[in-house]
Amino acid sequence: MEPVGLFYGSTYGMTEKVADKIKKAFGKSAKIDIFNLKDTSVEEMKKYTNLIFGTSAWGIGEMQDDWERFIDNLPEVDFSTRKLALFGLGDQKEYPESFVDGLGTLYCRLPEKSAVVGYWPVEGYDYYFSLAEKDGKFVGLVIDEHHQKDLTDKRVKAWVAQLKKEFV
Ligand SMILES: Cc1cc2nc3c(=O)[nH]c(=O)nc-3n(C[C@H](O)[C@H](O)[C@H](O)COP(=O)(O)O)c2cc1C
Repeated sequence: MEPVGLFYGSTYGMTEKVADKIKKAFGKSAKIDIFNLKDTSVEEMKKYTNLIFGTSAWGIGEMQDDWERFIDNLPEVDFSTRKLALFGLGDQKEYPESFVDGLGTLYCRLPEKSAVVGYWPVEGYDYYFSLAEKDGKFVGLVIDEHHQKDLTDKRVKAWVAQLKKEFV
């Protein structure tokens, strides 16, 4: 597998923590480089054929702030030659009508969606509506550290096993 560039935006460090878990789940033989969006550039992103983007959710349809600032750089990246997997954090009990909307908005605003891999089942979550749901699946891994923390490691492990098959 080619090296992976993982780019995340995180306000209270929860998405950052999950980014570290994802890196660990790939194992020592894989090269996974992690970047906090607020300290990186689109030039760094362009160095990777395999990309992972992570965001938390902030209100109806809002991505984490650093993604709001970074998103307009994405058209500079040629996604037709890359694979891209997304993950999102949210809180299904406090925000059941906008659950992981940040993930959904990130997907919507991608200039090229055919690069996306790592779709994830909606089963096992309890919510009314999510912008991140498309054709009966989530557009990426969904993590709720507030109410399903005990499932995070298992979910990360299963998703990474899927990505190992879908990445180049
Ligand atoms: C003001 C506020 C608004 C939020 N809005 C949503 C939301 O609409 N949907 C959701 O699923 N989670 C929402 N959350 C939960 C966060 O996405 C969640 O706490 C996440 O784990 C934070 O990750 P971070 O520390 O990496 O930014 C909200 C949290 C706060 C404090």
